[in-house]
Amino acid sequence: MSAQSDHSTRITITSLREMKQKKQRFTCLTAYDAAFARLLDQSGIDLVLVGDSLGMVVQGHDTTVPVTMDDMVYHCRLAARGLSRAMLVADMPFLSYSTPDQALANAARLMQQGGAQMVKLEGGDAQHDIVKHLSGNGVPVCAHIGLKPQSIHKMGGYRVQGRQKHSAEAMLYDAEILQKAGADILLLECVPVKLAQEIVGNVDLPVIGIGAGPYCDAQILVLHDVLGITPGPVPRFAKNFMEQAGSIPAAISAYAQAVREGSFPEAKHCFD
Ligand code: KIV
Repeated sequence: MSAQSDHSTRITITSLREMKQKKQRFTCLTAYDAAFARLLDQSGIDLVLVGDSLGMVVQGHDTTVPVTMDDMVYHCRLAARGLSRAMLVADMPFLSYSTPDQALANAARLMQQGGAQMVKLEGGDAQHDIVKHLSGNGVPVCAHIGLKPQSIHKMGGYRVQGRQKHSAEAMLYDAEILQKAGADILLLECVPVKLAQEIVGNVDLPVIGIGAGPYCDAQILVLHDVLGITPGPVPRFAKNFMEQAGSIPAAISAYAQAVREGSFPEAKHCFD
């Protein structure tokens, strides 16, 4: 039985690598509590992310910057209770991984108190030592590159990343260096389709995309965007699956099916 069709076995990084090898796209969504995590789990979502997007969609902030470690551990613990199959990944919030030792202590909290199986952090070459330290201590890492929402005040706006030659080259370099440092998964946010395709071809890791086109090994969206209940503007790469579905479980299943068969993302959700 394939890792994708077996709904009773816990998803691990090994299952995700197998899916990549077999060219089976895997499905990811965010959740922040036990009720939605259970629903995603029962709908066959392979990876649940307790994203620091909770700062915007749950807490009502304008950015993810105010989210704290305590917030993340709390929501991670809630989501963990709802899961029996999906892999649980938790975001490390802004400034919780500024040094290798601080990163390790905070990753330990997310795994030991929150029940996360992997942590996600935003960064590239500059976070090489952090990723190496986490990985060397047995902490699985998802490295988030491209648009990094925690750096919004530094970047001055939410924009597609890697459109210029020099920034595309830097992103290709970041992907390789993070793989070498021991990252287990890459996540690309708001990256032109061709660059994302090149990155996927250059690394062995499973690559999750959000606004990064159809060539990624998996797709992720924020749950509230999928359900059409996002407070404020909705990013172009998102799709409201509730519009065509009669219920929340039907919308989640429609998203999962669209990702697996490759009908999401469509061209209108992608960037040149
Ligand atoms: O915080 C989050 O939900 C994320 C996703 C948008 C990938 O990082």
